[in-house]
Formats: sequence, structure tokens, C-alpha cells
Amino acid sequence: MLDEIALNNLKIYLRKRLDLNLNQYKDNYIERRLNARISMTHVDNLAGYLALLTKDPEELNTLKDNLTINVTEFFRNMETFEALNRDIIPAIIKSKEIGSSNTIRVWSAGCSSGQEPYTLAILFSEAFKKLRKKHRLVIIATDIDKKSLENAKSGRYESNIMEGIPKHLLIKYFDKIGGEYQVKPFVQDCINFKYLDLTSDDGSNVAGIPAYDLIVCRNVIIYFKDELKKTLFMRFYKKLRKNGYLVIGKNEALSGDAKTLLEDVNPSERIYQKTR
Ligand SMILES: C[S@@+](CC[C@H](N)C(=O)[O-])C[C@H]1O[C@@H](n2cnc3c(N)ncnc32)[C@H](O)[C@@H]1O
Repeated sequence: MLDEIALNNLKIYLRKRLDLNLNQYKDNYIERRLNARISMTHVDNLAGYLALLTKDPEELNTLKDNLTINVTEFFRNMETFEALNRDIIPAIIKSKEIGSSNTIRVWSAGCSSGQEPYTLAILFSEAFKKLRKKHRLVIIATDIDKKSLENAKSGRYESNIMEGIPKHLLIKYFDKIGGEYQVKPFVQDCINFKYLDLTSDDGSNVAGIPAYDLIVCRNVIIYFKDELKKTLFMRFYKKLRKNGYLVIGKNEALSGDAKTLLEDVNPSERIYQKTR
């Protein structure tokens, strides 16, 4: 068990320096992460670790990376994107034939360095071509990690992380520049990357439109406290348009009121629909 006073001081410090609200993360998760850093940095205890943080900006960054974990990849959990490509994206496009607007709105919440929203943009673009549709795609992609957001905005990736992308899509949607890959501008143009802390901000300013066709929030809230998860699921529910879809991480479970309000359309891929 970590010393409670030292833990509180550390939370206050991180709130001030990183604008990170650790009160919304599960205690055992924070403890595991902090204990790992305490042992890696060879300090005696949490108070010693806090003293180190105040003098060492690099350690502050390392801790932030350890707490927010921004691991991601293109086409992460391929089966989920296959389901989206096969069932959900065509259904969304079809729904626009009946409705009055031809704008498709997507929110990637916790987008890390951009691979998830770029994957979605590629799949929608492919579907538009296949179905001969000229819809407008607007993707809002948000994250708490400013460095990841900068990388995402640049759309530039090292070649070793492009493995998940099918070859024909890699050629079509990226330019090879030296040893790196650059997302083509027409793909970048439909994504708006923005800072948003899901623990403290209801997203009204950056993802305010309550009319999303698709909200994807995967592998982000897994470490959040249960009450916050329920609040977030309801927030997503409210931001979806009727018949819109929510996708959560493969190891996550829907909870709270949203569980009864959203229909489970693909249980194994954690895809839900707002049918009412
Ligand atoms: C493991 S990545 C998931 C990326 C992507 N959704 C995926 O599944 O590949 C988790 C992301 O959630 C972000 N995150 C963590 N806490 C957050 C918060 N309070 N508000 C918004 N984003 C947060 C992290 O910065 C990180 O980029």
C-alpha cells in the first residue's frame, strides 16, 4: 500500500503540472504504475519519488506515458475493423440516403497518435468508392496526450509500424518519404485532432454535436473508476444520433444505464447501436 498523504500530494502535483486527474483512475491501477516507477528509479518510497518528479522533467514525462499508455496501431484488432467494414460502415452510408444530411460524423475518443481515426477514414473512403457515394466525412479525434496529438496531426509514421495495413491500402493512402510514410492530405483533411480529457470535460466544446453516426472509444477507459465509466457511456449514448453506433475495446464491458439503452449488435467486437 502506498502512503496516503504522499499519494495525495502526488495527485495534486500531477493535476497542477500535467492537468491529469488521477482521482478518476482505479486505485490499484495507479498503485501498480507508481510502484513500477519507484522500483525503476531506485527511490525509497512515494515521497522520494515525488521529490524526484519535481526535479526531473524527463521522469515526469515517463510517468505520464506510463499512466496514460498510448499503445495503438493501424487496424488494431483487425476483426473489429472487419465488422465495421462489412456491416456498420455500409449501414451508416445507407442511412444517409434516407436522411436529409449526407455528412457522416465520427468521434474517435482517446485516439493516441492517430492510427485509429486514420484507419476509420481509410475504410470510409474505400466504402464511398465501392458504393459510389460522395458523402462528407468529419472525424473528431481527441486525446489527453498532447505529444501523441502532435504526432497524429503530422500523419507521419515510421515504416516499422505500418505492418497492420493491407499493402494495397498502404500504397493508396500513404506517400513514402524516405524511410517514413505520410498520410495523404485528402485523408488528413477529414480529421480534426483536439485535446480532450475524458475525466473532466464533457466534450461539449470539441465534440459537442449530439449527432454522431459512430463513436469509437477503445482501450481508453479501462483504467477509469466504474462510476466514471457509466457516466462516459451515457455521455456517448447522448452524443449518438438515433441508430448511431458505439464501439468500445474488446476487453471492456458496457455498464450503467447505457447498457439497457444500447443494443448489442456485435457482442464479440463490442459494437452497440442506439436504437432508441
Ligand atoms: C491505449 S491508447 C488507445 C488508442 C486507440 N483508441 C486504440 O485502441 O488503439 C489509450 C489512449 O487514451 C488516452 N487517454 C488516457 N486517459 C485519458 C483521458 N483522461 N482523456 C482522454 N484520453 C485519455 C491516452 O493518452 C492514450 O492515447
